[in-house]
Amino acid sequence: MTTKRLLMKGLTFFKTLEDLDAESKYLVHKAKEATQTSYAPYSKFHVGAALLLEDGTLVPGSNQENASYPLCMCAERVALYAAASQFPRKVIKKMAVVAHKKNHKELVNATSCGACRQVMSEFEMRQGSPIQVIMMENDQWAICSSVSVLLPMGFDGGSLKG
Ligand code: THU
Repeated sequence: MTTKRLLMKGLTFFKTLEDLDAESKYLVHKAKEATQTSYAPYSKFHVGAALLLEDGTLVPGSNQENASYPLCMCAERVALYAAASQFPRKVIKKMAVVAHKKNHKELVNATSCGACRQVMSEFEMRQGSPIQVIMMENDQWAICSSVSVLLPMGFDGGSLKG
């Protein structure tokens, strides 16, 4: 029985983590580790992200909340902005995002919010090469070949540019 399912171009689903390639599995493991630094006393939803840069550098991030709710920052953007500020010229190859509830070890479905997709999209455009994204959806592991699959027609500055 096949464990791999192609839902649409650029988006592949896997039934279990074991079905992922070794590099992706490792990145999911690093994203899970990153949830340990999550500060989520309000939502109690602990999110971790891990970026793999082209030279093998790993950049973790986790969600950071605030009593003033709109100031909460998602794990994806924490990781992306950390990469941009610490490794400004390094290409991001792949990103994994995972989440679990407070005091629960098992990972739950968590797909990136629209704001994070917009930010991811500009990172991809800036570097001129695709960023693969791994997330859990519908109790399956999804590997997305590019952010452009997750956010078609994202805002690119349009007529603001130039
Ligand atoms: N969260 C993320 O870290 N990433 C997302 O893509 C969606 C949501 C965080 C924000 C907040 O701390 C908690 O999850 C509940 O929304």
